[in-house]
Amino acid sequence: MPTVRDIRTKAGDEPITMATAYDAPAAEIVDEVGVDIVLVGDSLGNTTLGYDTTLPVTVDDIARHVGAVSRATEDALVVADMPFLSFGVSEEESIKNAGRMLKEAGAKAVKLESGPHTVGLTERLVQLGIPVVAHLGLTPQRVNEYGGYPRQGTDTETATEIIELAKAHAHAGAFALILEHVPANLARTVTDAIEIPTIGIGAGPDCDGQVLVFHDIVGLSEWTPSFSKQYGNVREEMKNAVEAYANEVESGEFPGPEHSHESDDLEDLESFY
Ligand code: KIV
Repeated sequence: MPTVRDIRTKAGDEPITMATAYDAPAAEIVDEVGVDIVLVGDSLGNTTLGYDTTLPVTVDDIARHVGAVSRATEDALVVADMPFLSFGVSEEESIKNAGRMLKEAGAKAVKLESGPHTVGLTERLVQLGIPVVAHLGLTPQRVNEYGGYPRQGTDTETATEIIELAKAHAHAGAFALILEHVPANLARTVTDAIEIPTIGIGAGPDCDGQVLVFHDIVGLSEWTPSFSKQYGNVREEMKNAVEAYANEVESGEFPGPEHSHESDDLEDLESFY
């Protein structure tokens, strides 16, 4: 069972595997195949709750799904993603919300979409025993500021800002850093510049680990980002199964004798009516 300490010391070691999961069956699969970290991402909003962005996701939503994932996970390290405005507004609220993920829901750590405003908070959470994964580059909770989901750190000024923030969060005590949708050469530079492991998504091959969204991996999403890779076609499989079921109900083939039972005590019942 990897601990926060194990992950922290894995920089430059064997690649770290991380995948999202939002419910018990997905968590069981991710855990059984030996993925190191399972992230209950606020991508829950898009993948599972039917929202267009992650912004409407609440602390209650994440806590409920972290509970399901934690109950189904034996080995992987469970990380709870802190939703939009659940952190960074007031320190007290941030600590209360992050603490709830560990105290009530069973997470072992939290992830914050990071920026200059989360350096102090990261330090405080770590002091209190709440391990933190930082997240830089494309941080989807800023969709309204970006006007979409564009690549980040593509010029010297913004790349330098990301490098400085990565160092600041490593110094503040984060035990890993997610880098999303940034150039591979920037991710390589950050990975070399900090002691803690980097975990990339759309950040090239030189991070210490990789993370993908469960629905993208298995092919359940209707749309996947260009940097993601689909390893299955579960959506098609599910559609075929549900279609076959509906067709059998319509044709009378289901339920068959093997799916039904008769009670001997009711032998006379039909003669009464
Ligand atoms: O919410 C999420 O799933 C994430 C990962 C894609 C890193 O933040």
